[in-house]
Amino acid sequence: MPLPKPLAAALLLAASLPAAAQTRQETLLTSNWKFTKGDQPNGAKPELNDAKWQTVRVPHDWAISGPFDGKNDQQVVKIEQNGEKQASLKSGRTGGLPFVGVGWYRRPLTVPALGKDGRAVLLFDGAMSNARVYLNGKEVMFWPYGYNSFSVDITPYLQAKGANTLAVRLENQPEASRWYPGAGLYRNVHLITTLGAHVPVWGTYLTTPEVSATSATVKLRTKVDAPTGATGLKLQTELRDAAGAVVARATTDVVAGAETEQSFTVAAPKLWSPETPVLYSAETKILNGSTVQDTYRTPFGIRSFKFEKDKGFSLNGQPRKFKGVCNHHDLGPLGAAINTAALRHQLAILKDMGCDAIRTSHNMPAPELMQLCDEMGFMVMVESFDEWKAPKVKNGYSQYFDQWVEKDLTNMVHRDRNHPSAIMWSIGNEVPDQSSPNGPAIAKRLQDIVHREDPTRPVTMGMDRYDDDFKYGIAAVLDIPGFNYKPHRYADAITKLPQGFLLGSETASTVSSRGVYKFPAELAKDKQYPDNQSSSYDLEACRWSQIPDIEFAAQDDLPYTLGEFVWTGFDYLGEPTPYDEKWPSHSSYFGIIDLAGQPKDRYYLYRARWNPTQPTLHLLPHWTWAGREGQTTPVFCYTNYPSAELFVNGKSQGRQTKSKTDNPQTRYRLEWPEVKYQPGTIKVVAYDAQGKAAATEEVRTAGAPHHIKLVTDRPKLTADGQDLAYITARVEDAQGTLCPDATNELRFVVSGGGSFRAIGNGDATNLEAFQQPQMHAFQGQLVAIVQAGTAASTVQVKATAAGLKDGTLALPTTK
Ligand code: GAL
Repeated sequence: MPLPKPLAAALLLAASLPAAAQTRQETLLTSNWKFTKGDQPNGAKPELNDAKWQTVRVPHDWAISGPFDGKNDQQVVKIEQNGEKQASLKSGRTGGLPFVGVGWYRRPLTVPALGKDGRAVLLFDGAMSNARVYLNGKEVMFWPYGYNSFSVDITPYLQAKGANTLAVRLENQPEASRWYPGAGLYRNVHLITTLGAHVPVWGTYLTTPEVSATSATVKLRTKVDAPTGATGLKLQTELRDAAGAVVARATTDVVAGAETEQSFTVAAPKLWSPETPVLYSAETKILNGSTVQDTYRTPFGIRSFKFEKDKGFSLNGQPRKFKGVCNHHDLGPLGAAINTAALRHQLAILKDMGCDAIRTSHNMPAPELMQLCDEMGFMVMVESFDEWKAPKVKNGYSQYFDQWVEKDLTNMVHRDRNHPSAIMWSIGNEVPDQSSPNGPAIAKRLQDIVHREDPTRPVTMGMDRYDDDFKYGIAAVLDIPGFNYKPHRYADAITKLPQGFLLGSETASTVSSRGVYKFPAELAKDKQYPDNQSSSYDLEACRWSQIPDIEFAAQDDLPYTLGEFVWTGFDYLGEPTPYDEKWPSHSSYFGIIDLAGQPKDRYYLYRARWNPTQPTLHLLPHWTWAGREGQTTPVFCYTNYPSAELFVNGKSQGRQTKSKTDNPQTRYRLEWPEVKYQPGTIKVVAYDAQGKAAATEEVRTAGAPHHIKLVTDRPKLTADGQDLAYITARVEDAQGTLCPDATNELRFVVSGGGSFRAIGNGDATNLEAFQQPQMHAFQGQLVAIVQAGTAASTVQVKATAAGLKDGTLALPTTK
């Protein structure tokens, strides 16, 4: 039968392409997975009938659908770093979700024909945890640390003919974490095949040793794994700019058994920075005569940075301080299962706040986060461990430390050392080994391993045991001494530190619940209330921590400070301090942004300081306080204008101007502490530096709940089956004012070109499931996450609630 014309043409074209197109194949193993919870004695055996197991898509978090239960991973502990003197029962410390135990994943694996010199490799971006990988019944790999990436060459275990069976057994121990770790194959699994000489996993190392405005030197070291006896191989590399134009090229003989080094000069390089995240790529071919054996792409950026005694940090010659946040890896209602759209959503919110740096507390991030930080412009402190030899939790990393630490650090550095966003490595967080005479030697050993694998970036860690850090000496070992919650010790520290600078590696840990205000509004430590919430006046912290203003003042007044990483950007599952012992609290109160992705008031305090290009003018609290008439109800304004006048129902409450006093709040917030509540309107008029009225903001008293308003973060979605919209549902009165106490149950129906994915309201005590399309509003709001389908269409979103007018929204999806 003659072929239809276009198909025949396509085949001809394919036949005339160089063999290169087919040499390397990379496939994400997302579908066809079967999963079961609980151990399976024959789980690895190819003949096992897994038809009754659940069909899942990877990345997958087996525990996020709950149900929540205070008995899940209950821990009787004394949290030493919190200054606790006695052990007590902690529920919700790891999120109250059922992640402990064994889970099995299986799928058939079809591998393309490899010929005599082909190889097949599985690359796991992260598997939680104690991963045992089996191919056709044989264990081919064990990797305990759930956050690290690892790969295994499965070529020797493949069947000569027919399908292969891939099985993975994962096991999470109880008392192994201080936060929600997630469970299962929560990051991507890749199958990579090559046909001959090839670049192995993470086989290139690209550096930019000399950078100026006129020229940059780029060095590329490439490993080549070649079949025995292969000779005459060449490496041909082209550097391309963001538009794809070739800016430099080199062809070099492959050095057998060693790395092949290539050097390039890029004229007039476009430098990478958070403000200008320009990317280049190195496209490498392995040639055997004119035959392409492999192609390999190394994305990179060109930038230089320095940490200098008495000068601090500079990027591309410009001094700057880190405006950073620490984040745990979970994605709130989506759990730990990695999702690029969800990460992009988080980073977009942080970018708008003016944040320019992320600390991946306290473990290796997903590779997708690193890629997005390259593209969107964030500097990253890539962190490795929360424990070394001395434990914080019974079954934590300390049990693996001796045997695994070098392998774990090596994989971390090899995977991420080509990212322009990676700016420093962290070898640990608040490890109790700080208080051991061996601490400095361990730190030195780990730092040396990191330097061996990447001499271009400095090493830091988060230290919290100030006196011991100097007594035993760990502080002097690190390239960058990082202190957690020690602004009051910076002045002393600098006199003892040979480095001549220091970093606020973890700062603030202010606690608040979005939209909740407590009276009197006053500074407090470890404050608890019967409703398990914390006040959004941003005056409450923990015994060891501070309100944001104290770190701001230290950073502004002390030239040797390198900046800060706030604990945390986003709320996370687990660690519900100050309610560690008070179920049903099960997620954090530390976030600048709540668990569902909604900014708290504090967001605007940071935005006013960190985002100088956008005006910020934000008023708090809400102004719907039936029963508080005549009572003192302080009003705060977070703004980057220097001064503002407040009016209550048109009556001036006076003008406030930021000023430096003994009280750091007066420098960073405008406060009217004595305002008496009366229903109506509060309004501020902000004045610029020239004293001109520049902007206004007002908050009104809400009437009865009337309708649901839906607001999307994205006007349209990509129809790729993955893209997400975060849709905020607001319960409003007839005039469109948020009803700040509304707790209505909102039900969602998503139809057309998308589906309901998850829901969250940011309430750390809420036990409603994230995966059901209904939830109660918290402080008048919640967020529904909607996922695009695969066909260009329109997603229809409808929210209903008894007694309220529906909210609807239509969201186009495009190919
Ligand atoms: C730090 C710790 C973080 C988190 C934080 C809460 O001591 O490094 O992981 O626990 O306290 O304030």
